[in-house]
Amino acid sequence: MSSSLDAVRPETAPAATPWFRPAIHFTAADTWLNDPNGLVFHNGLYHLFFQNNPYGNVWGNMSWGHATSPDLLHWTEHPVAIACDSTEDIFSGSVVVDHGNTSGFGSAAAPALVAVYTSAFKDTSAHSGTQAQSLAYSTDGGMTWRKYSGNPVLTRHSAHFRDPKVFLYEGDACTYWVMAAVEAQQQKVVFYRSEDLKSWDFLSDFGPANADEGEWECPDLFPLEVDGDPDNVKWVLIVNVNPGAVAGGSGGQYFVGAFDGVSFVADADSLVAPSGLASLRDPSAQAAALQQSLWLDWGRDCYASVSFSNAPDGRRIIIGWMNNWDYANHLPTSPWRSSMTLARELRLSNDSGVPRLVQQPVLPAFQDRGLPWTEGSLELADSSVKLPDAASGRAQVIEAEILLGTAERLGFTLLESSDHSLALGTVLRYDTATARLTLDRTQSGDTGFHAKFASVESVQVAPVDGVLKLLVVVDHASVEVFAQDGTAVLTDLVFPHPGQTSNRLVVEGGTATVLKLTVSALA
Ligand code: FRU
Repeated sequence: MSSSLDAVRPETAPAATPWFRPAIHFTAADTWLNDPNGLVFHNGLYHLFFQNNPYGNVWGNMSWGHATSPDLLHWTEHPVAIACDSTEDIFSGSVVVDHGNTSGFGSAAAPALVAVYTSAFKDTSAHSGTQAQSLAYSTDGGMTWRKYSGNPVLTRHSAHFRDPKVFLYEGDACTYWVMAAVEAQQQKVVFYRSEDLKSWDFLSDFGPANADEGEWECPDLFPLEVDGDPDNVKWVLIVNVNPGAVAGGSGGQYFVGAFDGVSFVADADSLVAPSGLASLRDPSAQAAALQQSLWLDWGRDCYASVSFSNAPDGRRIIIGWMNNWDYANHLPTSPWRSSMTLARELRLSNDSGVPRLVQQPVLPAFQDRGLPWTEGSLELADSSVKLPDAASGRAQVIEAEILLGTAERLGFTLLESSDHSLALGTVLRYDTATARLTLDRTQSGDTGFHAKFASVESVQVAPVDGVLKLLVVVDHASVEVFAQDGTAVLTDLVFPHPGQTSNRLVVEGGTATVLKLTVSALA
Protein backbone atom coordinates (compact mmCIF):
# COMPACT_ATOMS: atom_id res chain seq x y z
CA MET A 1 0.00 0.00 0.00
CA SER A 2 2.65 2.49 1.00
CA SER A 3 5.08 2.30 -1.91
CA SER A 4 2.35 1.84 -4.49
CA LEU A 5 1.33 5.47 -4.49
CA ASP A 6 4.69 6.90 -5.32
CA ALA A 7 4.25 6.96 -9.04
CA VAL A 8 0.55 7.48 -9.65
CA ARG A 9 0.05 9.02 -13.08
CA PRO A 10 -2.05 12.15 -13.23
CA GLU A 11 -5.43 11.38 -14.72
CA THR A 12 -5.80 12.81 -18.20
CA ALA A 13 -9.53 12.28 -18.65
CA PRO A 14 -9.04 8.83 -20.22
CA ALA A 15 -11.60 7.58 -22.69
CA ALA A 16 -14.08 5.06 -21.32
CA THR A 17 -13.25 1.38 -21.91
CA PRO A 18 -16.61 -0.43 -21.67
CA TRP A 19 -15.21 -3.56 -23.35
CA PHE A 20 -13.04 -4.25 -20.29
CA ARG A 21 -16.00 -4.09 -17.89
CA PRO A 22 -16.33 -7.61 -16.39
CA ALA A 23 -19.60 -9.47 -16.81
CA ILE A 24 -19.45 -11.42 -13.53
CA HIS A 25 -16.76 -9.73 -11.44
CA PHE A 26 -17.60 -6.79 -9.21
CA THR A 27 -16.35 -3.35 -10.19
CA ALA A 28 -17.45 0.00 -8.79
CA ALA A 29 -19.36 2.01 -11.42
CA ASP A 30 -16.87 4.84 -11.89
CA THR A 31 -14.39 4.85 -9.02
CA TRP A 32 -11.36 3.06 -7.60
CA LEU A 33 -11.51 0.00 -5.36
CA ASN A 34 -9.04 -2.21 -3.54
CA ASP A 35 -9.42 -4.76 -0.72
CA PRO A 36 -12.72 -6.49 -0.01
CA ASN A 37 -13.84 -5.41 3.48
CA GLY A 38 -16.53 -6.49 5.90
CA LEU A 39 -17.68 -9.52 3.91
CA VAL A 40 -20.83 -10.68 5.68
CA PHE A 41 -24.00 -12.63 4.90
CA HIS A 42 -27.10 -11.21 6.53
CA ASN A 43 -30.83 -11.57 5.91
CA GLY A 44 -30.40 -13.36 2.59
CA LEU A 45 -27.84 -10.96 1.12
CA TYR A 46 -24.09 -11.10 0.72
CA HIS A 47 -22.57 -7.73 1.59
CA LEU A 48 -19.31 -6.70 -0.02
CA PHE A 49 -17.77 -3.57 1.47
CA PHE A 50 -14.56 -2.48 -0.16
CA GLN A 51 -11.70 -0.01 -0.03
CA ASN A 52 -12.98 2.80 -2.22
CA ASN A 53 -11.98 6.24 -3.39
CA PRO A 54 -15.40 7.88 -3.82
CA TYR A 55 -13.79 10.81 -5.66
CA GLY A 56 -11.55 9.19 -8.24
CA ASN A 57 -10.11 6.09 -9.84
CA VAL A 58 -6.72 5.91 -8.20
CA TRP A 59 -6.02 5.04 -4.55
CA GLY A 60 -6.89 7.80 -2.07
CA ASN A 61 -9.66 9.18 0.20
CA MET A 62 -10.08 5.67 1.56
CA SER A 63 -13.65 4.89 2.52
CA TRP A 64 -15.80 1.76 2.56
CA GLY A 65 -17.83 1.35 -0.61
CA HIS A 66 -20.73 -1.10 -0.52
CA ALA A 67 -22.40 -3.65 -2.77
CA THR A 68 -24.83 -6.52 -2.19
CA SER A 69 -25.64 -9.72 -4.03
CA PRO A 70 -28.11 -12.57 -3.60
CA ASP A 71 -25.84 -15.06 -5.39
CA LEU A 72 -22.22 -13.76 -5.24
CA LEU A 73 -22.28 -13.23 -9.02
CA HIS A 74 -24.62 -10.29 -9.60
CA TRP A 75 -23.84 -7.23 -7.49
CA THR A 76 -25.69 -3.98 -6.84
CA GLU A 77 -23.59 -1.02 -5.75
CA HIS A 78 -24.92 1.18 -2.95
CA PRO A 79 -23.82 4.57 -1.60
CA VAL A 80 -20.55 4.76 0.35
CA ALA A 81 -21.07 3.02 3.69
CA ILE A 82 -18.32 4.51 5.89
CA ALA A 83 -16.69 7.68 4.55
CA CYS A 84 -13.30 9.19 5.29
CA ASP A 85 -13.36 12.58 6.98
CA SER A 86 -10.90 15.29 7.94
CA THR A 87 -9.40 13.19 10.75
CA GLU A 88 -9.22 9.65 9.36
CA ASP A 89 -9.14 7.42 6.32
CA ILE A 90 -11.15 4.21 6.66
CA PHE A 91 -8.78 1.32 6.00
CA SER A 92 -9.59 -2.38 5.77
CA GLY A 93 -11.50 -4.42 8.33
CA SER A 94 -14.39 -6.78 8.87
CA VAL A 95 -18.07 -6.93 9.86
CA VAL A 96 -19.75 -9.27 12.31
CA VAL A 97 -23.41 -9.87 13.08
CA ASP A 98 -23.65 -9.22 16.82
CA HIS A 99 -26.28 -11.90 17.47
CA GLY A 100 -25.89 -11.71 21.26
CA ASN A 101 -25.97 -7.87 21.29
CA THR A 102 -22.66 -7.92 23.17
CA SER A 103 -21.92 -4.39 21.95
CA GLY A 104 -25.29 -2.97 22.94
CA PHE A 105 -25.57 -1.36 19.49
CA GLY A 106 -28.64 -3.41 18.54
CA SER A 107 -30.90 -5.80 20.40
CA ALA A 108 -31.09 -9.57 20.68
CA ALA A 109 -34.17 -9.49 18.46
CA ALA A 110 -32.58 -7.16 15.91
CA PRO A 111 -28.81 -7.68 16.06
CA ALA A 112 -26.60 -4.86 14.84
CA LEU A 113 -23.95 -5.33 12.19
CA VAL A 114 -20.67 -4.11 13.67
CA ALA A 115 -17.79 -3.01 11.46
CA VAL A 116 -14.30 -3.17 12.93
CA TYR A 117 -12.09 -1.03 10.70
CA THR A 118 -8.71 0.63 10.79
CA SER A 119 -8.64 4.36 11.41
CA ALA A 120 -5.65 5.68 9.46
CA PHE A 121 -5.39 8.93 11.36
CA LYS A 122 -4.54 12.16 9.56
CA ASP A 123 -2.43 15.08 10.78
CA THR A 124 -5.53 16.85 12.07
CA SER A 125 -6.28 14.03 14.51
CA ALA A 126 -5.11 13.73 18.10
CA HIS A 127 -4.00 10.22 17.07
CA SER A 128 -2.01 11.53 14.11
CA GLY A 129 0.65 9.14 12.86
CA THR A 130 -1.03 6.00 14.12
CA GLN A 131 -3.30 3.32 12.76
CA ALA A 132 -5.79 1.97 15.31
CA GLN A 133 -8.98 -0.05 15.32
CA SER A 134 -12.42 1.57 15.40
CA LEU A 135 -16.08 0.57 15.25
CA ALA A 136 -19.10 1.57 13.21
CA TYR A 137 -22.49 -0.08 13.41
CA SER A 138 -25.64 -0.52 11.36
CA THR A 139 -29.12 -1.27 12.65
CA ASP A 140 -30.76 -1.31 9.22
CA GLY A 141 -29.16 -4.42 7.75
CA GLY A 142 -25.96 -2.76 6.60
CA MET A 143 -27.37 0.08 4.52
CA THR A 144 -26.39 2.99 6.80
CA TRP A 145 -23.60 3.19 9.34
CA ARG A 146 -22.77 5.26 12.40
CA LYS A 147 -19.26 5.58 13.87
CA TYR A 148 -18.94 4.66 17.57
CA SER A 149 -18.30 7.68 19.78
CA GLY A 150 -15.62 5.82 21.76
CA ASN A 151 -13.28 5.32 18.77
CA PRO A 152 -10.59 4.16 18.50
CA VAL A 153 -11.28 1.07 20.59
CA LEU A 154 -7.79 -0.45 20.26
CA THR A 155 -4.44 1.25 19.72
CA ARG A 156 -0.84 0.08 19.98
CA HIS A 157 0.43 3.60 19.20
CA SER A 158 1.77 2.04 16.03
CA ALA A 159 1.86 3.50 12.51
CA HIS A 160 1.27 0.10 10.88
CA PHE A 161 -1.35 -1.69 13.01
CA ARG A 162 -4.28 -2.52 10.74
CA ASP A 163 -6.76 -4.80 8.93
CA PRO A 164 -8.74 -6.34 11.83
CA LYS A 165 -10.61 -9.56 11.04
CA VAL A 166 -13.01 -10.39 13.88
CA PHE A 167 -14.86 -13.64 14.53
CA LEU A 168 -16.71 -15.28 17.41
CA TYR A 169 -14.50 -17.93 19.01
CA GLU A 170 -16.62 -20.69 20.51
CA GLY A 171 -14.34 -22.55 22.91
CA ASP A 172 -15.20 -25.40 25.26
CA ALA A 173 -15.28 -23.09 28.29
CA CYS A 174 -16.43 -19.78 26.87
CA THR A 175 -17.26 -17.75 23.83
CA TYR A 176 -15.65 -14.42 22.94
CA TRP A 177 -14.67 -12.25 19.99
CA VAL A 178 -11.20 -12.73 18.54
CA MET A 179 -9.46 -10.17 16.35
CA ALA A 180 -6.62 -11.03 13.98
CA ALA A 181 -4.84 -7.88 12.77
CA VAL A 182 -1.32 -7.07 11.59
CA GLU A 183 1.76 -5.20 12.65
CA ALA A 184 2.46 -4.88 8.95
CA GLN A 185 6.13 -3.93 9.02
CA GLN A 186 7.04 -6.48 11.69
CA GLN A 187 5.47 -9.28 9.60
CA LYS A 188 3.29 -10.25 12.55
CA VAL A 189 -0.34 -11.21 12.97
CA VAL A 190 -1.52 -10.00 16.38
CA PHE A 191 -4.49 -11.58 18.18
CA TYR A 192 -6.80 -9.84 20.65
CA ARG A 193 -9.87 -10.89 22.61
CA SER A 194 -13.04 -9.02 23.59
CA GLU A 195 -16.39 -9.67 25.26
CA ASP A 196 -18.15 -6.63 23.79
CA LEU A 197 -16.13 -5.55 20.69
CA LYS A 198 -15.24 -2.31 22.53
CA SER A 199 -12.59 -3.41 25.00
CA TRP A 200 -9.76 -5.63 23.75
CA ASP A 201 -7.03 -7.68 25.48
CA PHE A 202 -3.86 -8.92 23.82
CA LEU A 203 -3.65 -12.69 23.32
CA SER A 204 -0.56 -13.53 21.25
CA ASP A 205 1.19 -12.95 17.96
CA PHE A 206 2.39 -15.05 15.03
CA GLY A 207 5.26 -14.35 12.61
CA PRO A 208 7.43 -13.71 10.77
CA ALA A 209 7.19 -17.06 8.98
CA ASN A 210 7.50 -18.17 5.36
CA ALA A 211 7.06 -15.22 2.93
CA ASP A 212 8.18 -12.14 4.87
CA GLU A 213 9.81 -9.85 2.34
CA GLY A 214 6.97 -7.33 2.28
CA GLU A 215 4.39 -5.95 4.69
CA TRP A 216 1.91 -8.41 6.14
CA GLU A 217 -1.66 -7.28 5.52
CA CYS A 218 -5.29 -8.42 5.69
CA PRO A 219 -5.12 -11.60 7.82
CA ASP A 220 -7.95 -14.07 8.35
CA LEU A 221 -8.27 -17.02 10.72
CA PHE A 222 -10.94 -19.72 10.58
CA PRO A 223 -11.51 -23.44 11.26
CA LEU A 224 -12.19 -26.00 8.51
CA GLU A 225 -12.90 -29.70 8.65
CA VAL A 226 -10.34 -31.82 6.80
CA ASP A 227 -12.16 -33.73 4.04
CA GLY A 228 -15.46 -32.90 5.77
CA ASP A 229 -14.56 -34.82 8.94
CA PRO A 230 -16.00 -32.98 12.00
CA ASP A 231 -13.52 -34.83 14.22
CA ASN A 232 -10.57 -33.46 12.29
CA VAL A 233 -10.74 -29.67 12.39
CA LYS A 234 -7.74 -27.51 11.48
CA TRP A 235 -7.34 -23.74 11.58
CA VAL A 236 -6.26 -21.78 8.52
CA LEU A 237 -4.41 -18.47 8.89
CA ILE A 238 -4.39 -16.34 5.74
CA VAL A 239 -1.66 -13.69 5.55
CA ASN A 240 -1.47 -11.38 2.56
CA VAL A 241 2.00 -10.08 1.73
CA ASN A 242 3.10 -7.07 -0.32
CA PRO A 243 5.56 -7.29 -1.98
CA GLY A 244 7.25 -10.71 -1.96
CA ALA A 245 4.48 -12.99 -3.18
CA VAL A 246 5.33 -16.03 -5.30
CA ALA A 247 4.38 -14.43 -8.64
CA GLY A 248 5.86 -11.05 -7.69
CA GLY A 249 4.34 -8.06 -5.93
CA SER A 250 1.32 -8.71 -3.74
CA GLY A 251 -0.30 -12.10 -3.04
CA GLY A 252 -1.83 -14.29 -0.37
CA GLN A 253 -0.13 -17.04 1.60
CA TYR A 254 -1.68 -19.31 4.23
CA PHE A 255 -0.71 -21.56 7.11
CA VAL A 256 -2.53 -24.63 8.45
CA GLY A 257 -2.37 -25.29 12.18
CA ALA A 258 -4.15 -25.12 15.53
CA PHE A 259 -5.80 -22.27 17.43
CA ASP A 260 -6.75 -22.78 21.08
CA GLY A 261 -8.46 -19.44 21.62
CA VAL A 262 -5.15 -17.79 22.52
CA SER A 263 -2.39 -18.71 20.07
CA PHE A 264 -2.09 -19.95 16.52
CA VAL A 265 0.53 -22.67 16.07
CA ALA A 266 1.33 -23.62 12.48
CA ASP A 267 1.79 -27.29 11.62
CA ALA A 268 5.42 -28.14 10.90
CA ASP A 269 4.53 -29.06 7.32
CA SER A 270 3.13 -25.52 6.79
CA LEU A 271 6.38 -23.90 7.83
CA VAL A 272 9.03 -24.03 5.14
CA ALA A 273 10.85 -21.12 6.78
CA PRO A 274 9.74 -21.01 10.44
CA SER A 275 11.43 -17.65 11.11
CA GLY A 276 10.75 -16.21 7.66
CA LEU A 277 12.52 -16.37 4.32
CA ALA A 278 14.87 -13.54 5.31
CA SER A 279 16.36 -15.77 8.00
CA LEU A 280 17.53 -18.26 5.36
CA ARG A 281 20.07 -15.77 3.94
CA ASP A 282 21.07 -17.92 0.93
CA PRO A 283 19.09 -16.52 -2.06
CA SER A 284 18.59 -19.92 -3.69
CA ALA A 285 17.24 -21.38 -0.42
CA GLN A 286 14.92 -18.36 -0.17
CA ALA A 287 13.69 -18.87 -3.74
CA ALA A 288 13.02 -22.57 -3.08
CA ALA A 289 11.19 -21.79 0.18
CA LEU A 290 9.09 -19.15 -1.57
CA GLN A 291 7.92 -21.84 -4.02
CA GLN A 292 7.22 -24.26 -1.16
CA SER A 293 5.23 -21.75 0.90
CA LEU A 294 1.47 -22.23 0.71
CA TRP A 295 -0.23 -19.83 -1.72
CA LEU A 296 -3.90 -19.16 -2.21
CA ASP A 297 -3.21 -18.22 -5.80
CA TRP A 298 -0.12 -18.55 -8.00
CA GLY A 299 -1.10 -15.78 -10.41
CA ARG A 300 -0.37 -12.06 -10.28
CA ASP A 301 -3.82 -10.77 -9.42
CA CYS A 302 -5.35 -12.09 -6.25
CA TYR A 303 -4.70 -10.04 -3.12
CA ALA A 304 -6.24 -9.20 0.25
CA SER A 305 -8.46 -12.31 0.16
CA VAL A 306 -10.62 -12.64 3.24
CA SER A 307 -13.69 -14.71 4.06
CA PHE A 308 -17.36 -13.97 4.70
CA SER A 309 -18.62 -14.07 8.23
CA ASN A 310 -21.99 -15.62 8.99
CA ALA A 311 -22.05 -17.46 5.63
CA PRO A 312 -24.91 -19.95 5.35
CA ASP A 313 -24.39 -23.67 6.07
CA GLY A 314 -20.97 -23.05 7.61
CA ARG A 315 -19.49 -22.43 4.16
CA ARG A 316 -16.13 -20.66 4.01
CA ILE A 317 -16.17 -18.31 1.04
CA ILE A 318 -13.45 -15.82 0.17
CA ILE A 319 -13.18 -12.93 -2.27
CA GLY A 320 -9.88 -11.33 -3.27
CA TRP A 321 -8.96 -8.05 -4.91
CA MET A 322 -8.09 -8.91 -8.53
CA ASN A 323 -5.08 -6.67 -8.84
CA ASN A 324 -1.47 -6.27 -7.77
CA TRP A 325 0.08 -3.26 -6.04
CA ASP A 326 2.95 -3.47 -8.58
CA TYR A 327 0.77 -1.72 -11.19
CA ALA A 328 -2.66 -1.32 -9.57
CA ASN A 329 -3.05 2.41 -10.15
CA HIS A 330 -2.18 2.09 -13.85
CA LEU A 331 -4.72 -0.42 -15.18
CA PRO A 332 -6.00 0.85 -18.55
CA THR A 333 -9.68 0.95 -17.58
CA SER A 334 -12.00 3.89 -17.25
CA PRO A 335 -14.05 5.26 -15.57
CA TRP A 336 -13.60 2.49 -12.96
CA ARG A 337 -10.34 0.89 -11.89
CA SER A 338 -10.01 -2.60 -10.35
CA SER A 339 -12.33 -5.49 -9.72
CA MET A 340 -12.78 -8.35 -7.27
CA THR A 341 -12.08 -12.02 -7.97
CA LEU A 342 -14.97 -14.42 -8.16
CA ALA A 343 -16.16 -15.67 -4.78
CA ARG A 344 -14.36 -18.95 -4.03
CA GLU A 345 -15.43 -21.66 -1.64
CA LEU A 346 -12.63 -23.13 0.45
CA ARG A 347 -12.23 -26.67 1.70
CA LEU A 348 -9.33 -28.44 3.37
CA SER A 349 -8.31 -31.66 1.70
CA ASN A 350 -5.61 -34.21 2.47
CA ASP A 351 -2.80 -34.02 -0.05
CA SER A 352 -0.37 -36.90 0.54
CA GLY A 353 -1.26 -36.81 4.22
CA VAL A 354 -1.12 -33.05 4.76
CA PRO A 355 -4.18 -30.77 4.73
CA ARG A 356 -4.14 -28.16 1.97
CA LEU A 357 -6.71 -25.66 0.75
CA VAL A 358 -8.74 -26.37 -2.36
CA GLN A 359 -10.92 -23.70 -3.96
CA GLN A 360 -13.91 -23.76 -6.25
CA PRO A 361 -15.40 -20.64 -7.79
CA VAL A 362 -19.01 -20.01 -6.80
CA LEU A 363 -20.85 -20.45 -10.10
CA PRO A 364 -24.42 -21.33 -11.04
CA ALA A 365 -25.18 -24.99 -11.70
CA PHE A 366 -24.40 -25.60 -15.34
CA GLN A 367 -26.19 -28.87 -16.08
CA ASP A 368 -28.33 -27.41 -18.82
CA ARG A 369 -26.13 -24.55 -19.88
CA GLY A 370 -22.83 -26.03 -20.96
CA LEU A 371 -22.15 -26.35 -24.68
CA PRO A 372 -20.63 -29.82 -25.02
CA TRP A 373 -17.96 -29.74 -27.63
CA THR A 374 -17.61 -33.47 -28.03
CA GLU A 375 -19.54 -36.53 -26.94
CA GLY A 376 -17.27 -39.26 -25.69
CA SER A 377 -13.52 -38.95 -25.92
CA LEU A 378 -11.50 -37.61 -28.79
CA GLU A 379 -7.82 -38.11 -29.45
CA LEU A 380 -5.97 -35.13 -30.80
CA ALA A 381 -2.50 -35.24 -32.32
CA ASP A 382 -0.55 -32.06 -32.80
CA SER A 383 -3.61 -29.97 -33.50
CA SER A 384 -5.55 -26.99 -32.35
CA VAL A 385 -9.31 -26.62 -32.29
CA LYS A 386 -11.37 -23.47 -31.86
CA LEU A 387 -13.92 -23.66 -29.04
CA PRO A 388 -17.62 -22.95 -29.74
CA ASP A 389 -18.34 -19.36 -30.60
CA ALA A 390 -21.72 -19.34 -28.87
CA ALA A 391 -20.12 -18.20 -25.64
CA SER A 392 -17.73 -15.79 -27.27
CA GLY A 393 -17.87 -12.21 -26.02
CA ARG A 394 -19.45 -13.12 -22.69
CA ALA A 395 -17.93 -14.47 -19.50
CA GLN A 396 -17.06 -18.06 -20.27
CA VAL A 397 -16.48 -21.11 -18.14
CA ILE A 398 -14.36 -23.80 -19.80
CA GLU A 399 -14.23 -27.20 -18.11
CA ALA A 400 -11.80 -29.74 -19.50
CA GLU A 401 -10.53 -33.18 -18.60
CA ILE A 402 -7.62 -34.28 -20.71
CA LEU A 403 -5.86 -37.64 -20.61
CA LEU A 404 -2.22 -36.91 -21.19
CA GLY A 405 -0.68 -38.94 -23.99
CA THR A 406 2.59 -38.34 -25.75
CA ALA A 407 2.00 -34.58 -26.17
CA GLU A 408 4.77 -32.34 -24.90
CA ARG A 409 2.45 -29.40 -24.28
CA LEU A 410 -1.28 -28.83 -24.20
CA GLY A 411 -3.69 -26.18 -23.07
CA PHE A 412 -5.62 -23.20 -24.37
CA THR A 413 -5.02 -19.97 -26.18
CA LEU A 414 -7.61 -17.67 -24.58
CA LEU A 415 -9.08 -14.42 -25.83
CA GLU A 416 -7.39 -14.67 -29.21
CA SER A 417 -8.44 -12.76 -32.31
CA SER A 418 -9.66 -14.64 -35.35
CA ASP A 419 -6.51 -13.98 -37.38
CA HIS A 420 -3.95 -13.23 -34.62
CA SER A 421 -3.43 -9.83 -36.23
CA LEU A 422 -3.98 -8.02 -32.93
CA ALA A 423 -2.13 -10.19 -30.45
CA LEU A 424 -1.70 -13.92 -29.95
CA GLY A 425 -3.87 -14.14 -26.84
CA THR A 426 -3.40 -15.40 -23.29
CA VAL A 427 -1.64 -18.76 -23.25
CA LEU A 428 -2.50 -21.41 -20.65
CA ARG A 429 -0.01 -24.22 -21.21
CA TYR A 430 0.69 -27.51 -19.45
CA ASP A 431 4.15 -28.92 -19.95
CA THR A 432 3.92 -32.69 -19.50
CA ALA A 433 7.63 -33.27 -18.86
CA THR A 434 7.84 -30.78 -16.00
CA ALA A 435 4.19 -31.03 -14.84
CA ARG A 436 4.11 -27.24 -14.77
CA LEU A 437 0.97 -25.24 -15.61
CA THR A 438 1.84 -21.81 -17.00
CA LEU A 439 -0.26 -18.72 -17.63
CA ASP A 440 1.47 -16.38 -20.07
CA ARG A 441 -0.01 -12.94 -20.69
CA THR A 442 2.96 -11.44 -22.50
CA GLN A 443 0.96 -11.39 -25.78
CA SER A 444 -2.50 -11.00 -24.24
CA GLY A 445 -3.31 -7.53 -25.60
CA ASP A 446 -2.49 -4.19 -23.96
CA THR A 447 0.48 -4.94 -21.72
CA GLY A 448 2.40 -1.71 -22.19
CA PHE A 449 0.76 0.46 -19.54
CA HIS A 450 3.25 -0.65 -16.88
CA ALA A 451 6.70 -2.25 -17.13
CA LYS A 452 5.78 -4.95 -14.58
CA PHE A 453 2.54 -6.07 -16.21
CA ALA A 454 3.65 -8.45 -19.00
CA SER A 455 4.39 -11.65 -17.11
CA VAL A 456 4.43 -15.44 -17.03
CA GLU A 457 3.16 -17.32 -13.95
CA SER A 458 3.30 -21.02 -13.21
CA VAL A 459 2.50 -23.71 -10.67
CA GLN A 460 3.32 -27.40 -10.28
CA VAL A 461 0.27 -29.56 -11.06
CA ALA A 462 0.46 -33.35 -10.86
CA PRO A 463 -1.80 -35.36 -13.16
CA VAL A 464 -4.31 -37.62 -11.40
CA ASP A 465 -4.51 -41.06 -13.05
CA GLY A 466 -2.89 -39.44 -16.08
CA VAL A 467 -5.62 -36.78 -16.32
CA LEU A 468 -5.38 -32.98 -16.14
CA LYS A 469 -8.60 -31.25 -15.02
CA LEU A 470 -9.01 -27.55 -15.67
CA LEU A 471 -11.82 -25.13 -14.87
CA VAL A 472 -11.10 -21.79 -16.51
CA VAL A 473 -13.23 -18.67 -16.03
CA VAL A 474 -12.60 -16.12 -18.76
CA ASP A 475 -14.22 -12.72 -18.29
CA HIS A 476 -13.60 -9.66 -20.44
CA ALA A 477 -10.41 -8.67 -18.64
CA SER A 478 -9.38 -11.66 -16.54
CA VAL A 479 -8.52 -15.34 -16.54
CA GLU A 480 -8.96 -17.50 -13.43
CA VAL A 481 -7.69 -21.09 -13.62
CA PHE A 482 -8.67 -23.80 -11.12
CA ALA A 483 -6.57 -26.90 -11.76
CA GLN A 484 -7.22 -30.42 -10.45
CA ASP A 485 -10.47 -29.54 -8.65
CA GLY A 486 -9.04 -26.32 -7.25
CA THR A 487 -5.83 -27.65 -5.68
CA ALA A 488 -3.91 -24.96 -7.60
CA VAL A 489 -5.27 -21.59 -8.72
CA LEU A 490 -3.85 -18.99 -11.12
CA THR A 491 -5.49 -15.57 -11.54
CA ASP A 492 -4.32 -12.96 -14.02
CA LEU A 493 -5.80 -9.76 -15.38
CA VAL A 494 -5.56 -9.38 -19.17
CA PHE A 495 -6.55 -6.50 -21.43
CA PRO A 496 -7.32 -7.97 -24.86
CA HIS A 497 -7.92 -5.65 -27.79
CA PRO A 498 -11.54 -5.42 -28.95
CA GLY A 499 -12.12 -8.44 -31.20
CA GLN A 500 -10.01 -10.83 -29.12
CA THR A 501 -12.87 -12.99 -27.88
CA SER A 502 -12.39 -16.62 -28.87
CA ASN A 503 -10.62 -19.57 -27.32
CA ARG A 504 -8.69 -22.50 -28.74
CA LEU A 505 -7.57 -25.88 -27.43
CA VAL A 506 -4.00 -26.66 -28.39
CA VAL A 507 -2.11 -29.99 -28.33
CA GLU A 508 1.56 -29.92 -29.35
CA GLY A 509 4.33 -32.49 -29.82
CA GLY A 510 2.21 -35.66 -29.68
CA THR A 511 -1.22 -36.88 -28.65
CA ALA A 512 -3.73 -36.23 -25.88
CA THR A 513 -7.29 -37.46 -25.40
CA VAL A 514 -10.03 -35.01 -24.51
CA LEU A 515 -12.36 -36.82 -22.10
CA LYS A 516 -14.58 -33.83 -21.40
CA LEU A 517 -14.82 -30.29 -22.68
CA THR A 518 -17.68 -27.91 -22.05
CA VAL A 519 -18.00 -24.19 -22.52
CA SER A 520 -20.69 -22.22 -20.69
CA ALA A 521 -21.59 -18.57 -21.05
CA LEU A 522 -22.44 -16.33 -18.12
CA ALA A 523 -23.79 -12.82 -18.04
C1 FRU B 1 -3.98 -3.80 1.49
C2 FRU B 1 -4.01 -2.46 2.21
C3 FRU B 1 -4.38 -2.64 3.67
C4 FRU B 1 -4.95 -1.30 4.02
C5 FRU B 1 -5.63 -0.90 2.74
C6 FRU B 1 -5.58 0.56 2.46
O1 FRU B 1 -4.11 -3.69 0.11
O2 FRU B 1 -2.75 -1.84 2.09
O3 FRU B 1 -3.32 -3.05 4.50
O4 FRU B 1 -5.84 -1.38 5.10
O5 FRU B 1 -4.99 -1.59 1.70
O6 FRU B 1 -6.33 0.88 1.32
